[in-house]
Amino acid sequence: MPKMKITVVGAGMVGGTLAQRLAEKNFADIALIDIVGDLAKGKALDIAQSAPIMDYDINIQGGDSWDIAKDSQIVVITSGVPRKPGMSREELLEVNFKIVKDVSEKIKKFCPDSIVIVVSNPLDAMTYTAYKITGFAKNRIMGMAGVLDTARFRAFLSMELKVSPKDITAFVLGSHGDTMVPVLSYTHVGGVPVENLLPKEKLQQIIERTRNAGAEIVSLLKTGSAYYAPSAAVLEMIESVVFDRKRVLPCCVLCEGEYGINGVFVGVPVVLGKNGVEKILEFKLKDDEVQALKRSAEVVQKLQKEVDELIKKHS
Ligand code: LAC
Repeated sequence: MPKMKITVVGAGMVGGTLAQRLAEKNFADIALIDIVGDLAKGKALDIAQSAPIMDYDINIQGGDSWDIAKDSQIVVITSGVPRKPGMSREELLEVNFKIVKDVSEKIKKFCPDSIVIVVSNPLDAMTYTAYKITGFAKNRIMGMAGVLDTARFRAFLSMELKVSPKDITAFVLGSHGDTMVPVLSYTHVGGVPVENLLPKEKLQQIIERTRNAGAEIVSLLKTGSAYYAPSAAVLEMIESVVFDRKRVLPCCVLCEGEYGINGVFVGVPVVLGKNGVEKILEFKLKDDEVQALKRSAEVVQKLQKEVDELIKKHS
């Protein structure tokens, strides 16, 4: 297999940790880009210097010039300002819009055939921004959130039940925000429905903790947001694309009628393979879950309208 090239935009904590995780997997060359060129250069050099010890031989370059990203097969956008304690992801809309717009213009020019994974917040609206600005087909634009939210949900369930998180399967759908939808009816522990194992109140507490999991980390770290779990979630998506694994993962993608949602980027279960988003899996949800998913999509739709206004203002 010819070597892949993956570009990570933003050399902050998520971008830097993702570059490290990717390097240690040793399947793709990496370009790490940041407007603060020396930060990207420094982190790339540090990762390169770990290679003799950690046993990888990919090439990693860092800087502020998009030349190093040229013709990457996958580009991950992590750039943008993270939340401060007490802030919602939505409050980042305008400032991160400008950043994601600039990055998307560069992607269009330097990596025209790439598959794009968006991580910047507010996630769903930023994924929509990348879609609008690049003009790429919908299968090549996705946001990372559902895998992270689901991992958090599984981690909390595993802590409560004292079982391996590996044996917990679940889906958290909807927007990467307060309206996210942990789908209890499809949450299983070693095949056993979770609702048979934990009382309703406990499950409700775990759902609430999952919804606030990003904010919980922000309030603990005080400066910046989570990065270990977010970068691990992006890696899982990248591996499914690069190795054509056809993993079924909840991702933020453009729904066009699925689940009764039209023209909105929101988290739904998809099959990820070499062509990016190969299929949206539509399965029967309980009525209250369908309603919750629709409500979540409505929140994103409002943000998409704000993005449309910002596109007009900045064009
Ligand atoms: C979080 C940020 C990455 O949920 O949105 O931690």
